[in-house]
Amino acid sequence: MKTFRFLLVVLSLSAIGLRGADLPALRKQGTATQLIVDGQPFLARGGELGNSSGEPDYLRASWPKLKAMNLNTVVAPVYWDVLEPVEGNFDFATVDGLIADARANGMRLVLLWFGTWKNSMSCYAPAWVKVDPTRFPRAQDSAGRGMEILSPFSAVNRDTDARAFAALMHHLKTSDAAHTVILVQVENEIGMIPEARDHSPAAEKAFAAPVPPALVDYLAQHRAQLAPELLAVWNAAGGKASGTWAEVFGAGSAGEEIFMAWYFATYTQAVTAAGKAELPLPMYANAALIRPGYQPGQYPSAGPLPHLIDVWRAAAPALDFLSPDIYFQDFSHWAGLYTRGGNPLFIPEAMRSPEAAVNALYAFGALDAIGFCPFSVESNTEPAAGYLTASFDLVRQLTPLLVEKQGRGLTAGFLQESVETKQPQQVRLGNWIFHVSFERAAPPQLADGLAVVIGTENSALAAGGRAGAAPAGGLMVALGDDEFLFAGIGLTITFDPAGGGRDQAGLLSVEEGRYVDGQWRHVRRLNGDQTHQGRHVRLEPGRFAIQRVKLYRYH
Ligand code: DGJ
Repeated sequence: MKTFRFLLVVLSLSAIGLRGADLPALRKQGTATQLIVDGQPFLARGGELGNSSGEPDYLRASWPKLKAMNLNTVVAPVYWDVLEPVEGNFDFATVDGLIADARANGMRLVLLWFGTWKNSMSCYAPAWVKVDPTRFPRAQDSAGRGMEILSPFSAVNRDTDARAFAALMHHLKTSDAAHTVILVQVENEIGMIPEARDHSPAAEKAFAAPVPPALVDYLAQHRAQLAPELLAVWNAAGGKASGTWAEVFGAGSAGEEIFMAWYFATYTQAVTAAGKAELPLPMYANAALIRPGYQPGQYPSAGPLPHLIDVWRAAAPALDFLSPDIYFQDFSHWAGLYTRGGNPLFIPEAMRSPEAAVNALYAFGALDAIGFCPFSVESNTEPAAGYLTASFDLVRQLTPLLVEKQGRGLTAGFLQESVETKQPQQVRLGNWIFHVSFERAAPPQLADGLAVVIGTENSALAAGGRAGAAPAGGLMVALGDDEFLFAGIGLTITFDPAGGGRDQAGLLSVEEGRYVDGQWRHVRRLNGDQTHQGRHVRLEPGRFAIQRVKLYRYH
């Protein structure tokens, strides 16, 4: 009997092994799109590796640090020149090493295909591509000089990249049955610079040809939802349904950028589709954002930027979403632009500053983000590392709750992006209006003002000395009609009943605690000085915490 049971277990385990885990996929929940991993909604507490940190032997020493920061996902480059050193001969050792080490450390991977383009340039193209510009044509500037950018107008460039990317995805299909790899980024920060478009002979020919009907038809069908900036360029040129690029979108650099976006995106579509034909993991493309006042050609132009999202959607339907790399202070502005038209928000790169810790909470709470990943995370240092650790600890605790509530109007986020941020921020959830102010200063060293340390992982708590620089922000979840959870740092919240007439809001109870395996664990009741004698809820500056609050009405 014992032997029979043992055999059954062995047989079913090997069946799972053979079948593999379910393929990661995207699924709608209300207005949100969730990333489903192993059958469950997954929030990526991620970090992207520095460009030259993706070799397993080099990275090995960093895994304990990545785990200690409460990451569950590492965003790692795959280098075309390393993958295909000789044409048609693929070397998967680097990818396999990354996957093995990620798995051993209980971590998921997002792979970045550094293929034809990486930050506009083609520096990751294999040597046999680089040295043969006749076969693999370069983009040219307006003086006819070749650039270190492979031209998107070459079918040979496109098909050579697509073949390598397909080989990578085929390899994942056979070697990563457990789906350690959950997402794939195709290329990296595609863009034209320092001119708005390619002037190679093939590009000139395409520019003089009619705009493909597939683009104008798409724009006409989606006219009501188009990005206003794109619509403005089209309308300014007369809103025509046919003609050359200059006729339909104008002869200026804005029109040239739309032209390039279409050809970059159709190229990326071919690469993505070739990869998905092997293994249809969710895939996306990312963009370097624009500094204020810069014109096309001055920034990496024509990538999946907010004003070009429609062009990219029309040309590259195989991409599941488009992502921003956010290195600017006005995080909520840029992140918000990438939720236009239901685009799921995944931030593969973000500034590695103390602010990252609250930007993450805002993205998950306000924008139903799938994931948030500071850049060069293995180099993170204090105080940013401590804040990120504490913030990701909260996200880890709250994931079951957040994924249950996402997309249903039951969550919100708060962010103080600069000391000038307008206060209080006002949010309505259900029957209540919340007024949120922010505090970054260190708390006064009163006898009873010392913070209770909740959980040993919360390393930012020993932050007395650094509280002055502490970020401020957080998220909120509606637990019931009159019960709410706040998670974050440096927040003071007051309440009003919505449409309350003479009604006023009071605090019935405020509890500090944490979630363990999805279950609430009480740490302490807060009252007296900690709630300003019942007037407000306060998540003190310099310390990440979770509070559950019950409200009531009186008059
Ligand atoms: C954005 C790119 O996508 C990254 O690979 C990296 O180059 C950073 N910029 C800058 O360090």
